Amino acid sequence: MHRVVIHPDSRSVEARDGEKLLHAAWKAGAGIKSVCGGRGKCGSCLVQIESAAPGALGEPGESESELLPAHPAGGTYRLACLCEIHGDIAFSVPPESQAVLAAPRKPHTLTAVAARPVVRRISVRVDPPAFDPPRSLARRLTDAIAPALSRRAIHLPLGTIADLSALRGFDGLAEVTATVHRERDVIQILPGRRARTCGLAVDVGTTSFVAFVCDLESGEVLATRTAGNPQAIYGEDVISRMTHVQQDPSTLATMRRLLVDDLNRLVDDACRECGIAQDDLVDAVFVGNPTMQHVLLGINPESLGRGPYLPVWSDGVEVEARDLGLAIAPRARVFVFPMVSGYIGGDTIAALLTRGADF
Ligand code: FES
Repeated sequence: MHRVVIHPDSRSVEARDGEKLLHAAWKAGAGIKSVCGGRGKCGSCLVQIESAAPGALGEPGESESELLPAHPAGGTYRLACLCEIHGDIAFSVPPESQAVLAAPRKPHTLTAVAARPVVRRISVRVDPPAFDPPRSLARRLTDAIAPALSRRAIHLPLGTIADLSALRGFDGLAEVTATVHRERDVIQILPGRRARTCGLAVDVGTTSFVAFVCDLESGEVLATRTAGNPQAIYGEDVISRMTHVQQDPSTLATMRRLLVDDLNRLVDDACRECGIAQDDLVDAVFVGNPTMQHVLLGINPESLGRGPYLPVWSDGVEVEARDLGLAIAPRARVFVFPMVSGYIGGDTIAALLTRGADF
């Protein structure tokens, strides 16, 4: 293995003999433009070699030489997608080759719609453990929550109790706030009284994404954040990203992680702005183009790139936030919109639902 250092962030990564600079950069999380998806066609992945052990760089082939600038201003320049690593090297990514330069604005329009959340929070008092007759914590919680919902029974999953049991003094709590999904499933129990019921709405685009933190009772948008999609290091269009997954299926997990990590940072920042905790986000909805929706859910999007261009699935799906690695209430349900076809995704359906004929 060879040691590769990538500037300007001084990221360091191990690379196999013969691995390309661009692959090493991806592993290190460094963003290098790759408009053609690393196929040696565009010249956008130009990097400058800072230092290299003797023989550490493969010789440029004919196609690379054709794309290299004729007389760059001093130094050794190479195309990251074609240059092979055969020893320890350090290189820098000039500003014009950096993939994510700044968070772009993602234009959006707010449309007033009636708020009809599928979750609600209730605060209830819980009988003490010694109450007669003796009952388990789960039983005492159920006995407190069900009447507050005017129901005879509710579903209190073991996972919700397991989360609660991680808290100090969980068995003696006198008052709790329960978050209930579709008036039946208790997806979260927290000590004390929590006032706000909030949710997260995210539109994942190929070049950028936008996240809205909303008050689910009033419908008010409390905070908005946009950022460049970090998957741009795998190419600027969906075809390039599909090609990468086709060539190396492990890329899919990395693409997903990049997106979720950035999204979590944005959500953390948005929550601070509006003064809520991340576990106050108890519901979420995601839309995107079909490729982005596949990648978000960890599903190989290859079939979208070849005839008959069909998605792997097309129905709306619901998953728990913790399964996506989202840093909101762990058992919050995340609804990912249905798709019409391989190139009409949940983003289009969401626009039609909210804008109707105006869209
Ligand atoms: S030439 Fe296009 S990414 Fe390298």
